[in-house]
Formats: sequence, structure tokens, C-alpha cells
Amino acid sequence: MRAFLLLPLLLIAPLPAQASAQLALDRGCYSCHGEPPRRNAPGMAQLAADYARYRGQADAPRLLAEKLRAGGLFAHIAAHERLSPADCETLMRWLIEGAK
Ligand code: HEC
Repeated sequence: MRAFLLLPLLLIAPLPAQASAQLALDRGCYSCHGEPPRRNAPGMAQLAADYARYRGQADAPRLLAEKLRAGGLFAHIAAHERLSPADCETLMRWLIEGAK
């Protein structure tokens, strides 16, 4: 009976990561960060590898999201800048956790 009650929890647990992958898909991230990546964009796996160093830093997703949305001085990427703060933070957290 106990195991029966736990089963739904096990099914729900992976959902946040899947939802984030879907969000990345919906927001067009893979059109540049797919395999092969477009022009000078790093691939999603590359980004995740870079961002793995932020694991365990509670404010990293928020700070990285602010940075991405603000854009560079010369590189304005609409797909980055039009993300809502909440979506962007979700995606940064997802990247830090390995983009699975
Ligand atoms: C039009 C192409 C394009 C799209 C679409 C795009 N990106 Fe990017 N992205 C780039 C390029 C080019 C770079 C590398 C240059 C730069 O950092 O500005 C980059 C860099 C990044 C970086 C690294 C920034 C840093 O300085 O560490 C992250 C994180 C990122 N993109 C996430 C995303 C996410 C999430 C999405 C989907 C919402 C997305 N990108 C959509 C082109 C794109």
C-alpha cells in the first residue's frame, strides 16, 4: 500500500526538467544552440558544461538570467532579451543542472 502511494511521486519528480527542456524548445533556443549549433552559438551541451560550475550557488540562476536578458554591448539576441525574468531563470537553472 505504501509503495502504491509513492509511485505517483516518482512519476512526477522528473517533470520540472522535462518542462524546462520543452520551454527551451518553445522559446526557440535550439534553433541556434542545437546540434550543430548555428554560427558562433555554443551548443546546449556546451552551455550546460560551462554552467555546471555554478551548481550549488543559490543566486546563480537569477544573476545569469539578468545577464542573458540584458544582452551584450554588441550582441543583441532577441530570443535572449524577450524571455520573461521567470522563464529565463528557469532555463538558467535547467542549464546549470545539465540541460536534461
Ligand atoms: C539567434 C540565435 C540564438 C538563439 C535563438 C538563442 N541564442 Fe543563446 N546565444 C547565441 C549566441 C550567438 C551566443 C554566444 C554569444 C553571446 O554570448 O552573446 C549565445 C549565448 C548563450 C548563453 C551564454 C551566455 C553567456 O555569456 O554565458 C546562454 C546561457 C544562452 N545563449 C541561452 C539561450 C537560451 C536559453 C535560449 C532560448 C531562449 C537562447 N540562448 C536562444 C545565439 C542564440
